[in-house]
Amino acid sequence: MSEVAFLPEHRFKPANTAQEEFLDAEDKIVAYVGGLGSGKTHVGAFWAITMMLTYRHAQGLIAANTYKQLESATLPKVFQLLDELGVRYHYNSQTKILRLKLKGATGLIHCRSLSEYQDLRGIEFLWIWLDETRDTKEEAFKVVLGRLRQRIYPDGRPVPTAIPPSEKLDLVPTKLRITTTPDMLKCKWLYDYLHNLEIRQKLSEDGISVREIKASSRQNPYLEKDYIALLEASYDSELAKQEIEGDWVLIPIGKPVFGTSFVPKIHLGKFTFNPHKPLIIGLDWGYHHPAAVFCQEDSQDHWIVLGELLERDKETTEFCEAIWKYINQRFPEAKEFDCYCDPAGKQRTSKSRKSDIEIAREYKLYPICKKSEILDGIAVIRRKLGKLIAGLPALVIDENHCPLLVEGFRGAYHYPEKIDPAQPDKLVPFKDGKYEHLFDALRYIGINKYHVMNPGQRTDNQPAYDVVDPVTGY
Ligand SMILES: Nc1ncnc2c1ncn2[C@@H]1O[C@H](COP(=O)(O)OP(=O)(O)O)[C@@H](O)[C@H]1O
Ligand SMILES: [Mg+2]
Repeated sequence: MSEVAFLPEHRFKPANTAQEEFLDAEDKIVAYVGGLGSGKTHVGAFWAITMMLTYRHAQGLIAANTYKQLESATLPKVFQLLDELGVRYHYNSQTKILRLKLKGATGLIHCRSLSEYQDLRGIEFLWIWLDETRDTKEEAFKVVLGRLRQRIYPDGRPVPTAIPPSEKLDLVPTKLRITTTPDMLKCKWLYDYLHNLEIRQKLSEDGISVREIKASSRQNPYLEKDYIALLEASYDSELAKQEIEGDWVLIPIGKPVFGTSFVPKIHLGKFTFNPHKPLIIGLDWGYHHPAAVFCQEDSQDHWIVLGELLERDKETTEFCEAIWKYINQRFPEAKEFDCYCDPAGKQRTSKSRKSDIEIAREYKLYPICKKSEILDGIAVIRRKLGKLIAGLPALVIDENHCPLLVEGFRGAYHYPEKIDPAQPDKLVPFKDGKYEHLFDALRYIGINKYHVMNPGQRTDNQPAYDVVDPVTGY
């Protein structure tokens, strides 16, 4: 199929052997499992277009996990290739139907989000392409697989409904294609479809052959040169195996949150307070373990963590007093303060009828806050650890004044040993009641000062576990 050429100048040139294999594969289910930028969407889109043009009477399905993902990453690639191939088309964003403008009959291509997979019941498809299945639930996949049953003869005529499916006919085989980055946590079910012998045997008894094709991001010559370097800088070595090599890896369970990103030799040091620069404070509220971290930036924008304060069983008023006591002892010359905190501090508690932020303001602390995901904040910290500015990491820690943070960075702050059954696809650091609060305080600084999340734009701060492609944002 890779030989299909619509116009001589539009011959498809595979980026790697994986793409070639994907286009040639005859199996019913084929999954292209690859790293970010390994050509998944591109080859999936090309396959879908080939199916549209080859089986013009058929119904096809192109699906991603959300409409946002579908319409901003998956379909644009289809449209780009259709334009390049000189095929005219019309996409109705209301009905989510794509039609090619060809002479004679043209089929319908349904473009859907698999978050609303129930909508698909009742439609039968000859071919299906699912992009970024890592975010798809197994139930959705099962419904999709059940819809892969349009029966047409090779000349395009539909099989009359009176002929039962049990009758042996010479029909066009139905096909399902998946293009995704792997993710053991989010889509272990797909791993099982591809690797579990029992499941594969059962599928094979039903006449369903399954094939996995692996692709590394390194094998795409169409990527910009610095793309792989950007990915390498974004992920720990374990995570890189997943995001770059496209390997199925069971990563962070029970492991240190910062893993190999933290190197004591280079991230720890002795630093002095500069009274001409603001003191940056991160605050995590809470009666049992309110926490504060004290930082500064130097003239080269290094983020320097100078101190930590973890209190026990303190009302917010007492916590604020403790903060001032700490500041007066350690940074008596501090004049300017930049303060960031947990957005939950906006809520008024029934007890005091004042919010934590309101109380802090009475103590001349003026924290600001922004809603964020834990994983985004961790990603900011991880990125800063991995970045060098003038030979020094962008984030450094005072080795004498941050004992708990140092323990946390060394591994005490870790992922849980078990996945939370209530949130099987979300892995956030273990709620240890201790380190987590100091890292939360650090995260609030990271999120407010250093996090720029703008899909489509290369940013310094990318979520590290809930991974997104640094270029597309998906
Ligand atoms: N065979 C190919 N020919 C031309 N460009 C390609 C090819 N394969 C991939 N690319 C380009 O490489 C980039 C990354 O591919 P893409 O499919 O978006 O990656 P992924 O979906 O795996 O993240 C895109 O700009 C894409 O158009
Ligand atoms: Mg893609």
